[in-house]
Amino acid sequence: MNFDHTKEQLMVRNMVRAFAEKEIKPVAQELDASGEFPWEIIRKMGSLNLMGMTVPQEWSGAGIDDISYMMAIEEIAKVCGSTSVIMAVHNSVCCYPIYKFGTDAQKEQFLRPLAKGQKLGGFALTEPGAGSDAGAVRTSAVLNGDEYVLNGNKIFITSGSEADILVVIVSTDLSKGTKGLSALIVEKGTPGFTYGSIEDKMGVRASATTELVFENCRISKENLLGEEGRGFNLGMATLDASRMGIAAQAVGIAQGALNEAVKYAKEREQFGRPIGKFQAIQWMLAEMATKVSAARFLVHRAAWLKDSGKNFTKESAMAKLYASRIAREVTNDAVQIHGGYGYTKDYAVERFYREAKITEIYEGTSEVQRMVIAREALR
Ligand code: CAA
Repeated sequence: MNFDHTKEQLMVRNMVRAFAEKEIKPVAQELDASGEFPWEIIRKMGSLNLMGMTVPQEWSGAGIDDISYMMAIEEIAKVCGSTSVIMAVHNSVCCYPIYKFGTDAQKEQFLRPLAKGQKLGGFALTEPGAGSDAGAVRTSAVLNGDEYVLNGNKIFITSGSEADILVVIVSTDLSKGTKGLSALIVEKGTPGFTYGSIEDKMGVRASATTELVFENCRISKENLLGEEGRGFNLGMATLDASRMGIAAQAVGIAQGALNEAVKYAKEREQFGRPIGKFQAIQWMLAEMATKVSAARFLVHRAAWLKDSGKNFTKESAMAKLYASRIAREVTNDAVQIHGGYGYTKDYAVERFYREAKITEIYEGTSEVQRMVIAREALR
């Protein structure tokens, strides 16, 4: 067993860390306050090859391994949850399924501009009646000649109002349940495709979580991703791979909060000395650092399994379950160490605390991760 990272992995991490510190950290608080979508940053990330990270170079991606990709998400999340989820969704649930299940023509048309960072990607599964029960999708797509006609609503879609290209899970046969679901590639601007409300959220406030509305929206059958009736499996396989990315995001948020807590514990004086000299604070920091480290190992193991072509369903779910939980706990402790100041918006830990919570919810709640882990364990 080798715990060393490769030169390439460290190079990616250091490059992303420098970029995040210089370009994102200074504006992260402001993005959170305004909720403005960070287009300028996303474009710069495209030019740094961060928007097609694991897509092979043949399709204009960076062609790097999943461990490097996880390290990159962590570095972005360490300074800004909103930017990291936009990046993770684009890479993991839009580029990845198009690469894995798309035809060469679909890759040429959709994947290449996504991987170059010229277009932004999204993924639409959730509906008002289909959250954890993802198989209950009711957005219908009825084949009419060479086109599917879409009707229905999607909710809570990350980058929804901003994404140029979305992988949308629809029902092509409502009578067949999960076996009637299919995946379609839908482009922004298609007639009949409009937006509902943009959510006013607790955290990751700049990621444009949007309702999508389809009213007689016609999509060419050339845009069917994978086989008709296999959309649920495609969605599940996509989420298997993407969940480790949300785990990496959770690790990043927790590490960001821990860094702030360490800095504050050295500076803040009470009872005549820095609070970091008190054992109560030292023990909190020790627990926080151990949890972050353990979560990172789970993320890297899941990514290593994926890179090695092995099954990673359980490990990806485990990484998300654990990393999201400790992100909530670590950010809570970071606020506690900051005392009253930590409860104000003058300190980043207040934002990290709000950002951490969503990692226990999106891309499958912790309860869903337990279902996935238990099913794999009982197999
Ligand atoms: N890979 C491939 N196929 C899979 C699979 C997987 N991991 N898991 C299940 N399937 C297949 C099964 O084999 C079965 O196929 P067959 O009928 O051909 O045998 C079919 O899918 C149905 O499987 P289940 O009966 O196990 O499905 P279920 O209805 O019990 O659901 C679930 C299982 C795990 C709860 C699933 O519904 C789920 O993951 N729910 C959570 C949804 C979710 O994560 N949503 C996140 C939205 S995206 C998001 O948040 C992105 C963002 O913006 C940040």
